[in-house]
Amino acid sequence: MKIAIMGAMPEEIAPILKKLGTYKTTKYADNEYYESTYNGVEVVVAYSKIGKVFSTLTVSTMIQYFKCDTLLFSGVAGGINPDLKIGDLIVATKLAQHDLDITAFGHPMGFVPGGSVFVEADKDLIALSKEVASELGKTVQEGVIATGDQFVHDSKVKDNIVKHFNADALEMEGASVAVVCKSLEVPFFILRAISDTADTDASFSFDEFMESSAIISAEFIMKMVDKIVR
Ligand code: ADE
Repeated sequence: MKIAIMGAMPEEIAPILKKLGTYKTTKYADNEYYESTYNGVEVVVAYSKIGKVFSTLTVSTMIQYFKCDTLLFSGVAGGINPDLKIGDLIVATKLAQHDLDITAFGHPMGFVPGGSVFVEADKDLIALSKEVASELGKTVQEGVIATGDQFVHDSKVKDNIVKHFNADALEMEGASVAVVCKSLEVPFFILRAISDTADTDASFSFDEFMESSAIISAEFIMKMVDKIVR
């Protein structure tokens, strides 16, 4: 087993690297990958940089070059579901690209021929996250995550994403990671902690809470790794 642990920004993987302690840094494809052994299991950690293109490159590299066979993503998201407050965790059951639009040709939003609107995350990893949550006495919501190359800070944009995808949270990497993992048949799990609610004050909220929410997500991910390696 070789586990990929991925974030989009340095702050999202810093708590994970801290927990690993020592690691080997490898430069590849204009990025850095951190290899370590955690309780006898090989792990590769990286942050992709923000957005669907960079995350696609990183997840592909982790699977095809570093030969990872399980992928965990940790990071922050904008909350859509009003039940989600700053710092709350959401596990993606399925993900969609909210900015993929060939509706001009009669297709639904998020759909292109050969693909599907939603990509489902691995059910066993979701089940494992439920065990971890109950052991920690933590509430972890499950729901739909919508991904696009856009920091959403407008409730009209948010409403539109709800209309098309019934999404609970949004971010900028999950669905592209999901597409790659599904295509390469690697089980994946996407966890996010809420940093903002994607409306007018989203950028201020993000600046204030991104780091603390990233830590909440990373700590939960490492509890999952503890369970996986056991
Ligand atoms: N990640 C965290 N907050 C976000 C937002 N409002 N839009 C897109 N990605 C995000």
